[in-house]
Amino acid sequence: MTLRPVRLADLPAVFAIEQAVFGGHVYPDFFFRQALELWPDWFWLAENGDGDIVGYALGAPSQRPDELWLLSLALLPACRGQGVGRALAQAVLDAMRPRARSVQLTVDPANPAAALYRRLGFVEAGRDDGYFGPGEPRLLMRWQPG
Ligand SMILES: CC(C)(COP(=O)(O)OP(=O)(O)OC[C@H]1O[C@@H](n2cnc3c(N)ncnc32)[C@H](O)[C@@H]1OP(=O)(O)O)[C@@H](O)C(=O)NCCC(=O)NCCS
Repeated sequence: MTLRPVRLADLPAVFAIEQAVFGGHVYPDFFFRQALELWPDWFWLAENGDGDIVGYALGAPSQRPDELWLLSLALLPACRGQGVGRALAQAVLDAMRPRARSVQLTVDPANPAAALYRRLGFVEAGRDDGYFGPGEPRLLMRWQPG
C-alpha cells in the first residue's frame, strides 16, 4: 500500500470512495476539486499494489490560524483492519504538524473510528447530541502535537 498526496486525476476515484463508504451522506464531487485547490498538502490517498485508490484523508484549516481540522477519513471495506486508515490519518497529521497547535475532528460516538483516533492521540473535547441534526451525535476530539 502506498500513501501519497492526491492529484487532479485521482478525484473521480476519491469521489467514488466517498460514495461507496458514506452512501448518500457525502461531500459533493466539486467539493473535492476545491479542497485540492485549497489544501493540497492535507489531502492524501492510499493506493494498493495494482494502482487502485482505496482510501483518502482530508484536512482543512479553520479561522484560527493554528487550529486545523481532520475533515474526512475513508477506506474501502476490503482494505480495512490492516492499519491503512491509521496511516492515512497519520500522514495528514504529520503534514499539518508544522502549522497546528491543535487538530480537531468530529466522529459518531458509536463509530469504531473513535478508537483509531484515540490511538493516534486524540482526546475527547466535547459532545453534541445533534451535531448533524436529530439523532446524529458527534464527539469532538482534539489532537495536539507533542
Ligand atoms: C475508519 C477507517 C478509515 C479505519 O480504517 P482501517 O484501515 O480499518 O483502520 P486501521 O486498520 O488503521 O485501525 C486502526 C485502529 O482503529 C480501530 N479500529 C478501526 N476499525 C475498527 C473496527 N471496525 N472495530 C474496532 N476497532 C477498529 C482499532 O483501534 C485499530 O487499532 P489497532 O491498530 O490496535 O487494531 C475505516 O474503518 C472506514 O473507512 N470506516 C468508514 C468511514 C468512517 O467511519 N470514517 C471515519 C469518519 S469520522
